[in-house]
Amino acid sequence: MSSTRSLMRFMRRSGQLPVHDFLAPALFAPNRRCLSSTAQKGAAQAQDASANSNAQKPKRKPLTKEQREFLSSALRVNQAGELAATLIYTAQTPPMVNAHPHLRPLMRHMYEQEAGHLDTFNSLIAKHRVRPTALYPVWSVLATGLGWGTAVLGREAAMACTEAVETEIGTHYNEQIRALLEMFQQWEAEGYEVGDELRELVGTLRRIRDEELEHLDHAVEHDARKAEPHWLLTGVIRAGCRGAIWASERI
Ligand SMILES: [Fe+2]
Ligand SMILES: [Fe+2]
Repeated sequence: MSSTRSLMRFMRRSGQLPVHDFLAPALFAPNRRCLSSTAQKGAAQAQDASANSNAQKPKRKPLTKEQREFLSSALRVNQAGELAATLIYTAQTPPMVNAHPHLRPLMRHMYEQEAGHLDTFNSLIAKHRVRPTALYPVWSVLATGLGWGTAVLGREAAMACTEAVETEIGTHYNEQIRALLEMFQQWEAEGYEVGDELRELVGTLRRIRDEELEHLDHAVEHDARKAEPHWLLTGVIRAGCRGAIWASERI
């Protein structure tokens, strides 16, 4: 017991023990009864009373291996997707703004939102020590090529690219939100509490999903559906997005 306490103390000091980390293995989940049992002699009775009252309160259920893997791959694929989104807009902006200067504020607005999403997932993967996708260099080249290529094809093609990407990404975020809410529902039915951190994550995913769908609306308002041939362009890009999501969740 004392060696476990020393290890926990060392990891806290060295910053290796994330106290509020929903992806921390169950071994390191904070257990107040274990950590405070030898605190002070005189506090023993108070601790017993507090332990009894804690027993009445709902507790967190440790994540299963599958749930940890789901959350890790969700953060990994979201970070990769947002990186790709910033690169698409970075590559699209110069040809688009050259040909259509009135689109500058819209392009800047969408880029800034994507940069905000990328910051969010960069922080989350660092906080939860999730490995980024190994396919980073591949997505970087493909996203830049897709952004530049569609912008050179014209305003409608660039907007069709946004329409296709955001359709897939909106669906992807919705699936993650649904899976998390189902997980929460099950925990609550079993008498466990969900915790603020995971609730915050769902709030973040909802906000980002709404901003992606806003980009989709902007694209349609700016003639995405007039791209020629719209069905081919959006079909190929949407299939590419689904493939990239599938691969980034795993690699
Ligand atoms: Fe985004
Ligand atoms: Fe977006």
